[in-house]
Amino acid sequence: MEGEKGPVCVTGGAGFLASWLIMRLLQCGYSVHATFRSDPSDFSFKYNPLLSLPEASGKLKFFEADLGNPESFDAAINGCVGVFHVAHPMNLEDKIDQDTIVKISLEGALGILKLCSKSKSVKRVIYTSSIAAVLWISNRNNVQEITESSWSEVDCFRSFKAPEISYVLSKTITERAALEFAEKHELNVVTLLPAAILGPFLGSDVPDAFSFALPLIFGTEAICALMKDANMVHIDNAVSAQIFLFECPNAKGRYICSSNDVSIDEVAKYLSIKYSELQMSTKSLGQMEGKKPLHLSSKKLLDLGFTFKYSLEEMIDGAIQCSKEKGLL
Ligand SMILES: NC(=O)c1ccc[n+]([C@@H]2O[C@H](COP(=O)([O-])OP(=O)(O)OC[C@H]3O[C@@H](n4cnc5c(N)ncnc54)[C@H](OP(=O)(O)O)[C@@H]3O)[C@@H](O)[C@H]2O)c1
Repeated sequence: MEGEKGPVCVTGGAGFLASWLIMRLLQCGYSVHATFRSDPSDFSFKYNPLLSLPEASGKLKFFEADLGNPESFDAAINGCVGVFHVAHPMNLEDKIDQDTIVKISLEGALGILKLCSKSKSVKRVIYTSSIAAVLWISNRNNVQEITESSWSEVDCFRSFKAPEISYVLSKTITERAALEFAEKHELNVVTLLPAAILGPFLGSDVPDAFSFALPLIFGTEAICALMKDANMVHIDNAVSAQIFLFECPNAKGRYICSSNDVSIDEVAKYLSIKYSELQMSTKSLGQMEGKKPLHLSSKKLLDLGFTFKYSLEEMIDGAIQCSKEKGLL
């Protein structure tokens, strides 16, 4: 454990990524202001894994804040040296319309950035974007590799009404606006674009995003058909990349964070050997040849000195073993 650092604010503290980030920040010696949108009175029960960390004692504070009311983040950001903006209105069940998702995400993020500018104490903001903000391009079939110079073409896909499109639009529009705000207001904002994240988790439910990251076990047949190829990263790598970018003096702009380009048949083969007792979500695996995955380059992050420490097998094992230990599989 290193010396005292922080405080830093992490938004969306109940989530899969944010809770692991809070744990690692505490273990690195940071004090953390974690925001939640639910009533703070149920924090102690729901976030017991965080509260029971020895490093949390006196160093983890909870704040109630909602992206729909960005001013509500003021108390949590006040006095912080850094902000990790992770919260996002996920809409996997397609309950909220596209325009509303984009509005909550965009206005929430810009409101948080305004508070960071006003604070004078915040030295850097790490915004968690997603590879959804680079991958949705019309000439995808003609491209060998995607880098940070790519931006998803929101106008091409806006008319498609599917939950994944509201995600693509909200992440792309919000990330672009955050970087523009940073430039205009001389605020230090760095964005991280993680691939599909897999591995162990702190919460008491399987993270919703697993239905896309490991659809053969946690998703549906329809999602398996959609996710024939994927780019993946281990939760601990996604989180350590956030901390690395926060601490690295030369970090600037956007960073893709993806360690493995994976096809669904490669995952199916591993699962059928190692976890033959588990039922896979698709009956049509024989006809489901994985596409050759598009390469997502993390070169910019690696050139800065970051290293990936986990294999694809460790990501899958972490997710499955953790789910089994919690009685969820
Ligand atoms: N998981 C992945 O594979 C992946 C990959 C790339 C990027 N990301 C990005 O990583 C971030 C976290 O994803 P995750 O998988 O950890 O998702 P998650 O577990 O669903 O976490 C999302 C968090 O955002 C909070 N939130 C939603 N709407 C909010 C609102 N209106 N106000 C305040 N908080 C709100 C949620 O609060 P509640 O708990 O109250 O619902 C939750 O804590 C997101 O920005 C996502 O785009 C994730």
